[in-house]
Amino acid sequence: MTFPFIHFLVHSCLNHISSEMKKYFLFLITCCAVFFTATAQVDILQNIDARNIQNLDGRWHYIIDPYETGNNSFYKNREQQSKSDLIEYDFAKSPTLNVPGDWNSRDDQLLFYEGTIWYEHDFNVAFHPGKKYFLYFKSVNYEATVYVNGQKAGEHKGGFTPFQFDVTSLLHDGNNFVVVKANNTRRKENVPTENFDWWNYGGITGNVALAEISGTFISDYKIQLAKSDNKHISGFVQLKGQQAGQKITVGIPEANINTVIVTNDSGYADINIAVKNLHYWSPEDPRLYNVVIKSADDSVKEKIGFRTIETKGKDILLNGKSIFLRGICMHDEDPFIPGRPRNASECRMMLLWAKELNCNFIRLAHYPHNESEARLADSLGIMLWEEVPVYWSIDWDNPATYDIAQQQLSELIARDKNRAGVIVWSIGNETPATDAREKFMEKLADHAHLLDNTRLVSAALLGHINNDTFHLDDPLGKKLDVVSFNEYIGWYVGLPDEMGKYNFKIDYDKPIIITETGGGALAGFHADDSTRFSEEFQEEIYKNQVKLFARIDGLRGTTPWILVDFRSPKRLNPTYQDYWNRKGLISETGQKKKAFYVLKAFYDEMEKKYSNK
Ligand code: GCU
Repeated sequence: MTFPFIHFLVHSCLNHISSEMKKYFLFLITCCAVFFTATAQVDILQNIDARNIQNLDGRWHYIIDPYETGNNSFYKNREQQSKSDLIEYDFAKSPTLNVPGDWNSRDDQLLFYEGTIWYEHDFNVAFHPGKKYFLYFKSVNYEATVYVNGQKAGEHKGGFTPFQFDVTSLLHDGNNFVVVKANNTRRKENVPTENFDWWNYGGITGNVALAEISGTFISDYKIQLAKSDNKHISGFVQLKGQQAGQKITVGIPEANINTVIVTNDSGYADINIAVKNLHYWSPEDPRLYNVVIKSADDSVKEKIGFRTIETKGKDILLNGKSIFLRGICMHDEDPFIPGRPRNASECRMMLLWAKELNCNFIRLAHYPHNESEARLADSLGIMLWEEVPVYWSIDWDNPATYDIAQQQLSELIARDKNRAGVIVWSIGNETPATDAREKFMEKLADHAHLLDNTRLVSAALLGHINNDTFHLDDPLGKKLDVVSFNEYIGWYVGLPDEMGKYNFKIDYDKPIIITETGGGALAGFHADDSTRFSEEFQEEIYKNQVKLFARIDGLRGTTPWILVDFRSPKRLNPTYQDYWNRKGLISETGQKKKAFYVLKAFYDEMEKKYSNK
């Protein structure tokens, strides 16, 4: 239930009471709504790369600790003082790993390793009293416990989203050290849970930075067009520190905007700016504006695009115009330099491959990807579906599991809420419909809508086949703005030459996205189109899927599975898979398979069809 809606509700029943009482109640409602949104906010610095940071990436020492022997000692990073001293570890003499980077792809003995690895890194600080220092991690999979100079700074769960700790009181001028205990053990109560079809890359997979910030600073902001209203920029600025109540300027020079807002005592201020002649962001014209937020002692520069995204009946409207999402799914994995991508240029390659397919949309599956991808998509003109790893059957009845799912969703939205390219928040993938799941997922959908009413909320749902009809009646659909589902007709259901007999029955009058479809092929393996794993088999599936797409009234997007073959510990056929999921349209060596061109031709056609709309 969003804030304006609460407003509307209360207004209608307040007509019957005195004006004094009315004012009092409205004040109360406003406080509640601000409190809810504020508490749901995540405490991370918005746009860390635009801050005054010391980059701590590089070679970090590491110790593999499968039995967690180091729990009560390694964080101290002690060195032998005397020849009789008993110290059974020594970071300084231990090997090093690159940070950012997963450990599995860096060291053959760690390819399948799941457990604890301790990292240690020395760094110098020119400490300035009066300043605040935040130690910021873009992502550590899955659990991170962080110590600075032998003292605990904090811990975080969730392998793909940023977190930070205020380490001002732990640092000193000169040499300091940080120790990170990272653990990627799969657990029932985790999100994702124990079973998933991608490589469980462990470690400090994202950049690490030490931010030096003034006493009162701009902690967070959202600056986007208001919901379904391209004449107003709306959002907020959140200051943190001593003088929270103060003047702030929000400047968008290229749009002749320079607005002054005043924060309340808790440092919060709404933004509501009327705009004219704004150049709206779209894939065809990904216009980004320079935005500068200034407070008395702090300022942050940003590049933001402005667009509206909404649904109307079965249409998805971008800037008020009906669109077709020409998409593809993607994992966050670099096929050439194995492992999680470590920087923007690795991410760029994959996004450009999607552009070659004539995509205007990518589903970043099944977890938050490297932040660079969202920023690159803004400038490359690619719309994004971002997802949290509520994947298959998780521990629905466990409140801790819900909390970690909601936390990851909050952190993802907090990180990417200013990205024009991001149009869909997805709360999960292929979660079987049970009552417990229903309760869990409906709450998560409400949470996404509460945090951001300017984007669409969805999830990749499962349907079921009755007598050659693919039926989608998942009750969760009622909570979603776009109804999306995965179907593997021709691969897991029937064979390519049987596909023509299938139809679809979708129980929702909403836009539809097919979020997964396709089949596997080993690049370069050629045979007739009924030989599984041949390029011809995969090509035949795509040819027939394109025909099936035409049968779905309300289909407004497709993101077949998947752009590139990816590593999976669940794909064990030694001839065709060898720990690779082969449903890519491009192989891990960059080879385009025949099906690539079938999908491209369909997207060229859809581009023409929708550009005339
Ligand atoms: C599932 C799932 C993917 C998986 C794919 C497959 O639908 O969502 O994560 O990799 O199908 O079977 O290849």
